Amino acid sequence: MEYLERRRDLVETRLEDVLASVDPAELSGELEDVVLAGGKRVRPTVSLLVCEAVGGDPEDAVDFAVGVELVHNASLVVDDIIDESDRRRGSPSAWSAFGHGPALIASDGLIGEAFALFSTDERAMQAVSEAMVELGEGEATELAAMPDSEDAYRQLARRKTGALFRAAAELGAIAADADARTVEAFGQYAQQVGIAFQIRDDVLDATADADQLGKPAGHDAAMDRPSIVQVTDLSPAEATERARSEADAALETLEAVPVEDEQAVEYLRDLANFVVEREQ
Ligand code: IPE
Ligand code: IPE
Ligand code: MG
Repeated sequence: MEYLERRRDLVETRLEDVLASVDPAELSGELEDVVLAGGKRVRPTVSLLVCEAVGGDPEDAVDFAVGVELVHNASLVVDDIIDESDRRRGSPSAWSAFGHGPALIASDGLIGEAFALFSTDERAMQAVSEAMVELGEGEATELAAMPDSEDAYRQLARRKTGALFRAAAELGAIAADADARTVEAFGQYAQQVGIAFQIRDDVLDATADADQLGKPAGHDAAMDRPSIVQVTDLSPAEATERARSEADAALETLEAVPVEDEQAVEYLRDLANFVVEREQ
């Protein structure tokens, strides 16, 4: 997958540059610990591939892709505080490494750096702001009440995970100067991929072990979190079938979008399948 490796390198190099420029050095070091500890980089990959799919140059989408990854990392830092999770990406989570105060400052720092990257483009700012409103509402809803139906669960997954996936795709299309309909269509695809991603994440929490995941396993049950396995009577295999249906819907959405670069679209198809099949 040399094609994807090269795009990953673009993201990593820019991430490293952005983090190295943060002041003071202590904050820069903490942000590097959080962001460079690993991570699948699924969201920035979506941004670059969508940019290319509509005929853009991946270089044009790198800043937005990095911005989305930084927002995602900030959300993980806070999520680990809420969930009292002491591991993330195989390393101590931010709060367990630095303490709660510095972890919150790290989260603020990540969001600040992200918005500096989006601020050059009004459409980008709008796409990300909408996603962050949804993400905040999703995380808050998760704490406020247990979803009482599969539908309510899906709504939650859309907000806390689907929305940022949507923004990742929209940003890629915006970077390529795509029209509003194209931006929306890729956004829809990515939102469906994001919901599938969250369902599979919930399944893995119930079925995989902590070493495999690099984060605590069995945590949703222990913390009484509204995972699909907690909220519904579905078995892990049945829940994975739900993720499969979401991914299939994403693939259907993709079929209907006019594209310029068939290779990039092929990788977007692979990505929709990957989120369902993944083991970590
Ligand atoms: C974890 O996201 C949080 C969820 C939305 C389930 P990822 O699984 O993308 O985390 P990293 O970036 O690869 O660590
Ligand atoms: C996902 O929450 C994090 C956000 C969407 C902010 P989860 O609690 O479901 O994910 P993990 O299992 O901690 O990665
Ligand atoms: Mg969590």
